[in-house]
Amino acid sequence: MTELTGKVAFITGAAGGIGLGIARAFAEVGGRVAVADIDEAVLAESAAELAESGAEVVAVPLDVTDRDSWAAAVESVHAKLGLVQVLVNNAGVSTNGMRFDEVSPRVWDRVVEINLTGVYNGVHNFLPDLRAAGGGHIVSTSSMGGLMGLPALSPYSATKAAVIALSEALHAELADDGIGVSVLCPGGVRSRLWRTSRAIKGLPDTDVPPDDQSGQSATASMLPDEVGRRVVDGVLSDELYIFTHPEMRGWVAEREERIRRGFDRAEAFSG
Ligand SMILES: NC(=O)c1ccc[n+]([C@@H]2O[C@H](COP(=O)([O-])OP(=O)(O)OC[C@H]3O[C@@H](n4cnc5c(N)ncnc54)[C@H](O)[C@@H]3O)[C@@H](O)[C@H]2O)c1
Repeated sequence: MTELTGKVAFITGAAGGIGLGIARAFAEVGGRVAVADIDEAVLAESAAELAESGAEVVAVPLDVTDRDSWAAAVESVHAKLGLVQVLVNNAGVSTNGMRFDEVSPRVWDRVVEINLTGVYNGVHNFLPDLRAAGGGHIVSTSSMGGLMGLPALSPYSATKAAVIALSEALHAELADDGIGVSVLCPGGVRSRLWRTSRAIKGLPDTDVPPDDQSGQSATASMLPDEVGRRVVDGVLSDELYIFTHPEMRGWVAEREERIRRGFDRAEAFSG
């Protein structure tokens, strides 16, 4: 898409953090925004703040894992804003700090439901809008943790890797339909993620000390508004991979090197 003015963007996980940063950035370039989240109270405050700054905004209560909730969201956005042209699947939870032995079946299922099936649900419900509008763009939030399986983060890394693969497949599949696809892979961003994810781990919603690794999203230096502007830039320039932390490039290079060594061994074996 080369122009976002007047276009409707539907953004999940937009009550705060990166989702709200993306909503602000779309509004800044004249986009009309539907902000969706499971946390209705914080969502209402954030939507009011966006409206005060002059944005055309609609707040949509949504649990990304609940298909009836998606049906109601589609209806509400159609009635208030019309067809969606930009879909941002951003809602997610983190299992940062949980080693595999601590990951119960309940935690695993819930993380897959929110971080991966939630993205499927978004595309399934709004792809018809993008087609009917004659084109559009889909952004899904993964993570640098999706490019590399990290210790004490296995369900998160697994689901975020799947979001990258899903986005790559959709990018190839939808290119001829005028629908762009991007996957956002941030490093640490200051947000409430450590807090909004505590229920997943069965922990009470209390403060954690800043040096607690599970609280890293509370102390990271990059701010969500910066990520939001990067996303708008990525959509306008039709980038498949939207990165925010260029200093983390070495992670990917290290992984590529390990994969290369695997192929070298396969070559030596077959030769
Ligand atoms: N903060 C970081 O360092 C970081 C880094 C890489 C990726 N991410 C990803 O960015 C995305 C946004 O996270 P954030 O850091 O802004 O945290 P955040 O907690 O501020 O935002 C996540 C939002 O998702 C909402 N949410 C959770 N479950 C939901 C559900 N079932 N249905 C609808 N909404 C739901 C939460 O209420 C919350 O508002 C997530 O997908 C996260 O994995 C964050």
